[in-house]
Amino acid sequence: MYIPFPEDSKFCSFIKCSKTFVAIVLTIMLSAPGLLWAQDSTAAAGAAPAGGGDAAKGESLFKNNCAQCHAVTDERVVGPGLKGATTRQDMAWLTKWVKNSQAVIASGDPYAVKLYNEYSKAQMTSFPNLSEDDIKGIFAYVDQAAAAPAPTAAAAGGAPAAAGAADSGPSDLFMIVVVALVVVMLLVLGVLLVIVSLLSKAVTGGTETAPKADFLTRFGNSVKNIATDPSIRSATIWIFVLLVLKATLDGAYSVGIQQGYAPKQPISFSHKLHAGEYKIDCNYCHTGVNRGKSAHIPSANICMNCHGVIKKESPEIQKIYTSIENNQPIEWVRVHNLPDLAYFNHAQHVNVGGVECETCHGDVAQMEVIQQRSSLTMGWCIDCHRQTEVNTKDNQYYDKLVQLHGTESKDALKVADIGGLECSKCHY
Ligand code: HEC
Ligand code: HEC
Ligand code: HEC
Ligand code: HEC
Ligand code: HEC
Ligand code: HEC
Repeated sequence: MYIPFPEDSKFCSFIKCSKTFVAIVLTIMLSAPGLLWAQDSTAAAGAAPAGGGDAAKGESLFKNNCAQCHAVTDERVVGPGLKGATTRQDMAWLTKWVKNSQAVIASGDPYAVKLYNEYSKAQMTSFPNLSEDDIKGIFAYVDQAAAAPAPTAAAAGGAPAAAGAADSGPSDLFMIVVVALVVVMLLVLGVLLVIVSLLSKAVTGGTETAPKADFLTRFGNSVKNIATDPSIRSATIWIFVLLVLKATLDGAYSVGIQQGYAPKQPISFSHKLHAGEYKIDCNYCHTGVNRGKSAHIPSANICMNCHGVIKKESPEIQKIYTSIENNQPIEWVRVHNLPDLAYFNHAQHVNVGGVECETCHGDVAQMEVIQQRSSLTMGWCIDCHRQTEVNTKDNQYYDKLVQLHGTESKDALKVADIGGLECSKCHY
């Protein structure tokens, strides 16, 4: 049964208006976040929009350089939470600190010395390459993120899953609010239409075909009308399409990204114990870092240099013995793994570039179980190449290049300027 609306009735235009209005509002509400997601995803893929504000640049600087040790909240990771750092010290102090914290401590600055002792003399990485503007940007981002209601960008290290989510789109809270709003609006719309159809029936004096229909039938009919109404239908289709689109994009951007991956290893080898407490140099075991493409995982023989005498009786150490006796290498589970299409060379970065292991791998010396701290995406490589100055000191190879670059530009020579963005450098 169709509830007739007299063509000239005021109710009719009211109903049409309200339906169209609701449909438009729904569409806008749903497509606005859709656009946001799309933008977010490109940013996450590394194509940071040019001319973005300080805080936007600060965000990627923070994530690449600081997030493995600091949260934007007041939560402690390796170093203190940075929430409120700008109120504890002024910008001049912060700049000096970030560029070279050891120098500030050495100068006897009481705040720095106290902090250093509080954090059991853990050394913060120095960032002499960051400019004053970069550092301002980082703290602009920190303040912004700390003030945000849902601190999802916090602690990339402490909560890698959360950091991944923050990279790929707006917060869950935002999604929940949008969905809740949509549900409420749909309910209101339903009730509105029921009321209007009841009223319009009263106005037309009950002269239509089924005047005595009970409330349930009438309600059912209204629902049917809503379901067949073209504007409502198109709004529903929009909702569906946008949700599917979002799910697809999220899926596509997280394929192959394993940030936070920390599998159980066959022997419970602890970097915290060996590299942290006993301060064994990374190169002692990862012998390839200064020489070639691969860092190398140490063979059991390297372990035996020490465990031939140390803790022989431990069942974990016995596994090393078993491996040697059976001539079976220990089957460590690989954690960091670029796809075959990409070329990465450790010696280039560690030996020539002077990049610290921690910059890419996080604070390994504090890890009980090794974990992948960086995303290892192309965007991650490119971001760093755009921002990092080439380590040209005492390297004759670069002297000519530096001279040439100096005549063309006032900026320092970045990795991007020596071809660090060329496809063929990273792809076979
Ligand atoms: C390898 C770990 C590590 C990295 C990376 C790191 N920090 Fe730190 N940071 C620390 C530690 C540890 C402290 C505590 C002081 C100390 O022990 O030297 C600290 C202290 C600080 C403080 C003082 C905090 C306060 O409460 O006043 C600021 C500010 C700071 N870091 C900023 C940064 C920024 C900005 C970056 C990125 C550009 C960064 N840090 C990267 C480990 C790190
Ligand atoms: C005593 C030897 C030893 C020292 C010292 C050592 N490592 Fe390791 N490292 C290993 C072994 C064994 C593995 C493989 C087992 C595992 O993943 O825990 C490993 C794994 C790793 C991995 C992950 C490899 C993968 O599968 O992707 C990284 C990254 C790493 N080490 C970095 C470091 C850094 C940085 C340091 C110095 C701070 C360091 N290691 C010091 C022995 C060592
Ligand atoms: C430079 C010396 C050195 C090397 C090389 C070394 N370790 Fe150790 N390892 C130590 C010391 C010191 C301890 C702490 C012993 C203790 O707690 O008394 C230790 C402890 C351990 C423990 C904990 C044992 C237990 O039951 O408490 C494991 C497991 C271990 N090492 C595995 C390895 C493996 C695997 C390698 C080779 C990749 C390796 N270590 C290489 C010095 C070394
Ligand atoms: C510029 C970033 C960067 C720096 C700096 C860096 N690594 Fe790596 N590391 C990587 C990447 C990327 C991979 C994955 C390589 C692959 O899958 O081919 C990796 C892989 C590894 C592996 C796994 C084995 C291998 O070589 O594939 C070990 C072990 C390792 N790194 C240790 C270290 C140590 C120790 C240092 C410091 C001396 C260091 N890395 C410095 C980015 C870095
Ligand atoms: C933390 C910063 C950082 C990250 C992250 C990083 N790089 Fe680099 N990369 C450098 C620096 C610094 C150099 C310059 C080294 C030198 O002086 O030759 C460099 C140089 C290179 C070069 C040689 C470029 C040339 O023209 O000579 C290649 C290739 C390269 N990187 C590949 C990669 C790949 C692939 C990744 C990601 C898996 C990556 N890098 C991640 C800092 C980084
Ligand atoms: C600094 C190093 C670097 C440069 C320069 C670079 N790439 Fe990549 N690219 C990578 C790495 C690393 C990956 C693997 C990323 C992953 O597994 O998520 C990758 C992945 C890809 C993929 C596979 C799709 C994907 O996202 O996994 C394509 C296609 C690609 N790059 C094309 C290009 C093109 C075209 C250029 C030149 C405009 C280029 N790359 C320049 C490092 C680089």
